[in-house]
Amino acid sequence: MSAPSTILVTGGAGFIGSHTCVELLDHGYELIVIDDYSHSTPQVFTRVERIADRFVGAVYELDIRDRRALSAVFDRHSVDAVVHFAAHKAVGESTRMPIEYYDTNVGGTTALLQVMREHGVHQLVFSSSCSIYGDAGRGPLDESTPAGPTNPYAASKWMCEQVLADVCARCPEFTVLALRYFNPVGAHPSGLLGEDPGGVPDNLMPYVAQVAVGRRERLPVFGDDYPTPDGTAIRDYLHVMDTAEAHRIALDHLADGPGLRVFNLGVGTGRSVLDVVSAFGSACGRAIPYQIMPRRPGDVTELVADADAVARAWGWRPTRDLHDMCRDAWRFQQLNPHGYAGPGRHINSKH
Ligand code: NAD
Ligand code: WQD
Repeated sequence: MSAPSTILVTGGAGFIGSHTCVELLDHGYELIVIDDYSHSTPQVFTRVERIADRFVGAVYELDIRDRRALSAVFDRHSVDAVVHFAAHKAVGESTRMPIEYYDTNVGGTTALLQVMREHGVHQLVFSSSCSIYGDAGRGPLDESTPAGPTNPYAASKWMCEQVLADVCARCPEFTVLALRYFNPVGAHPSGLLGEDPGGVPDNLMPYVAQVAVGRRERLPVFGDDYPTPDGTAIRDYLHVMDTAEAHRIALDHLADGPGLRVFNLGVGTGRSVLDVVSAFGSACGRAIPYQIMPRRPGDVTELVADADAVARAWGWRPTRDLHDMCRDAWRFQQLNPHGYAGPGRHINSKH
């Protein structure tokens, strides 16, 4: 089987999706992109095209749960493989809106699988998450670590992996790569693409960036009483450009073997919240004001990848470090202080 050349990307207007679109366009792939813009804006594609110096290809505004509309896209295009990013991803929101999360994340994935099967498309790269490991303990976690999701978002990703395992067991023509990302951050080095959460950022890096640019007064640091060297929690931050590159390489390896294969995507190095604060301060040339707050409910002490399996399988490792992540996130924030939409306007958010 040769490497696929026409790729359908769901959620292609989002943070990781848009960077992956650039990476795939740069490597000659033809794209068909689907997004409902519930957490993004179509303006992203103008920037993707500027960076890649190519048209994105066919772009459809649709909800992946809409089987009929999805099917019409597969009728119109000859799709070799699908990269499936579209999902809701906010952990806190998922505890308040579990039905919406299971419906979009699990229901969206089963709708996609059904339409893929009907159209004879059997190659899929799926966005999974380190959150499926829950509070698995200290030290690097490899892919055999038992799943223990602790919130509906993480459970939805784990359920998707189980659905994919069952589908692959029943339908041997399917080949699926589930990539468990740790903490993708950073931005495209051009400063044209980056992370643009609507409202108050849930995640650390965009919050720090908004403090640096003066949109927020200080960073709340959630807990300094963890059993870590500086008392703040440890994560494995991965540059979004490395994340995007991993998807392009995954497409080359879809045909390596049948069934579902699962890989962690991380650097393999743990960084504390205060490490990020300090690295961002160096990148932007000023100290980031912060205030120690109580722990955030549901947070774990440490989540770090054992990222050796993907290195062994594909000969690939991330190449960008925390300094690169902060520098690029800062460039995006400086060039787009109010995100893609500009001051006073917000990215769609149905929730
Ligand atoms: P994002 O919110 O920026 O992108 C998701 C995109 O999917 C958005 O453009 C959104 O509008 C779209 N979308 C949502 N529901 C849809 C639907 N029903 N139909 C069509 N489009 C829909 O998120 P991201 O950070 O780019 O994450 C991409 C994927 O990676 C998600 O599946 C997420 O769960 C997973 N993931 C992200 C992280 C992270 O830290 N960013 C970590 C692990 C896994
Ligand atoms: C990182 C650290 C916070 C904000 C989430 C999802 C996970 C995955 C990656 C999708 C934690 C601390 C944060 C702030 C802070 N996404 N923090 N002040 O929670 O590790 O993982 O994104 O799959 O599923 O749970 O990422 O960036 O929110 O937090 O002190 O304002 O920064 O407590 O220790 P997290 P995060």
